[in-house]
Amino acid sequence: MKKRNVVSEKLADKDQFEVNASVCPAGEVFPLPKDEDYEKEFKRLERIVKSQRLKGREIVVVMGVGFVGAVMAGVVADAVDPKSAKPNKFVIGMQRPSTRSYWKIHYLNRGIAPVDAEDPEVAPLIRRCVKEKKTLTATFTYDALSLADVVVVDVQCDYFKETFGGVKQGRADIAALEDSLKIIGQKIMPECLVLIETTVPPGTTEYIAYPIVKKAFEKRGIKDAEPLLSHSFERVMPGRNYVASIREFWRVCSGINEEARRRVVAFLSDVINVSEYPLTVLDRPIESETCKIVENSYRASILAFLHEWSLFAERNGVDLLKVIEAIKVRPTHSNIIFPGPGIGGYCLPKDGGLGVWSYHTLLGFEDDAFKITPAAIDINDTRGLRVAQLVRDALRNMGKIVAASKIVLLGASYREGVGDTRYSGSEIIVRKLTEMGADIAVHDPYVKHWWELEKQQSYPAPGHSMARFFRNQDKLDEIKVEKDLKIALEFADAVIIAVRHQEYLDLNPDEIVKMIRRPAAIIDCFGLLNDDKIRRYFELGCEVKGLGRGHVKRIKDDVRGRV
Ligand SMILES: NC(=O)c1ccc[n+]([C@@H]2O[C@H](COP(=O)([O-])OP(=O)(O)OC[C@H]3O[C@@H](n4cnc5c(N)ncnc54)[C@H](O)[C@@H]3O)[C@@H](O)[C@H]2O)c1
Repeated sequence: MKKRNVVSEKLADKDQFEVNASVCPAGEVFPLPKDEDYEKEFKRLERIVKSQRLKGREIVVVMGVGFVGAVMAGVVADAVDPKSAKPNKFVIGMQRPSTRSYWKIHYLNRGIAPVDAEDPEVAPLIRRCVKEKKTLTATFTYDALSLADVVVVDVQCDYFKETFGGVKQGRADIAALEDSLKIIGQKIMPECLVLIETTVPPGTTEYIAYPIVKKAFEKRGIKDAEPLLSHSFERVMPGRNYVASIREFWRVCSGINEEARRRVVAFLSDVINVSEYPLTVLDRPIESETCKIVENSYRASILAFLHEWSLFAERNGVDLLKVIEAIKVRPTHSNIIFPGPGIGGYCLPKDGGLGVWSYHTLLGFEDDAFKITPAAIDINDTRGLRVAQLVRDALRNMGKIVAASKIVLLGASYREGVGDTRYSGSEIIVRKLTEMGADIAVHDPYVKHWWELEKQQSYPAPGHSMARFFRNQDKLDEIKVEKDLKIALEFADAVIIAVRHQEYLDLNPDEIVKMIRRPAAIIDCFGLLNDDKIRRYFELGCEVKGLGRGHVKRIKDDVRGRV
């Protein structure tokens, strides 16, 4: 599938942001479209749409084919009319032709999902819709919007943090969303339903989207039509249940007026399983927007809450993991969760920030009402630093220091079973230990490239890398994610088990030490080691430390005969 030649090799070697081309993760280069390509592309779409309308299909443009939009586009394109069992939607995935994302259009049009997914349903879903059902195409031209009955907005809305561990000194970065809304206002038919799925600062649909689209309509001479704006946030979980987390899951929605509310309910009822997962329809978009922010702030807060008890446990001989298991038997406390080395993923580190920003900026309140939500995000963002301290202390107990030690990180992704590294706790661990002089090696069965490190000058965007909060990060450009555990572990001074990947659950101490070829410091970030394993590591001459695991000292004393 992957064609390579000398020219593309050279282009791929250069930073993709410097050239007029988009380079996909596999290294294939796609030159960006030229001015003359736009007219041809729009004609192609017009032709397709004409024939699709004859089949009675609704035309849906999904704007932004990233983690959410690409799979949402597949879910909509896969929808069928319950009576005839025939497809009732035709989807155009619309993606701006940026150097970072243009390649996704080519992937989709080849029937290949532009996202790495552990869910085996993702690849066949995209292939089926593009190649067999022919209900999905992708494009770079915004003119596609003029053909739509429904536009689904899945562009990003980031939160930019100015300081490390200080979410309040940040701001929502809504430029991409505002740009999208401006273009939507300029292009769509007045009766087109706009469904904003992006997680937005509460108030966005009414305070930002409505005025932008309404003014654009007036400029076009459309005076009497009210924009049909609606909001329904995604609860998608890119992982093993990626597709089901869109199609087979509960949704909340709202519309800016009666007609928008009716249309959004009808659209979602066509594409997701609302009979088993009924919709919750809220009165106003600000309520549905707030719902998403509160939902994620709640989760961020219950995870952050255990950080202080994790420190307490480490310093007072308590195994917090056993404490949590003891508490969980109470049905009222069954969702208490051990937080691991940080709370990543795209959503939890930013969503509370969007809410606080909105309170002050869009809604105009000056007081300091928000205490818990920002504190929780700050705690989660900085928890990885504690892991670096445990590595330092374990190495010290072995007569070593972090500087020039080989430290192997097992797990780069933000959670188990996925290859997504966005805002993972592991990144902070690596950056802090690098600052302290360590030589880092990384193993992860799911992550192919750790772009946050490999392309830290420009990823997630120029000037946005976490590298800016740490010194001496340059050598991390050269990090490669090793797939062979034995090669990764060889001659390690310390090993950090950072993610609860299935592959790490049953690691055997004897085999690990054999692979390392000598005793090492073992750092358990997720309570993966039971007491027998901890004991065995000590017997093999290793040092063990773990987040929230104060009892390891007792096991060590026992093994070393000091009790
Ligand atoms: N990733 C998740 O797990 C997840 C879960 C729930 C909700 N969400 C929310 O969904 C939204 C999208 O997230 P994502 O993970 O898909 O982001 P993403 O960065 O993967 O994708 C966004 C896409 O939109 C494109 N885009 C930006 N501006 C555009 C424009 N003007 N026109 C066309 N395309 C444009 C980008 O190039 C990119 O491909 C965010 O608000 C996020 O918070 C994400």
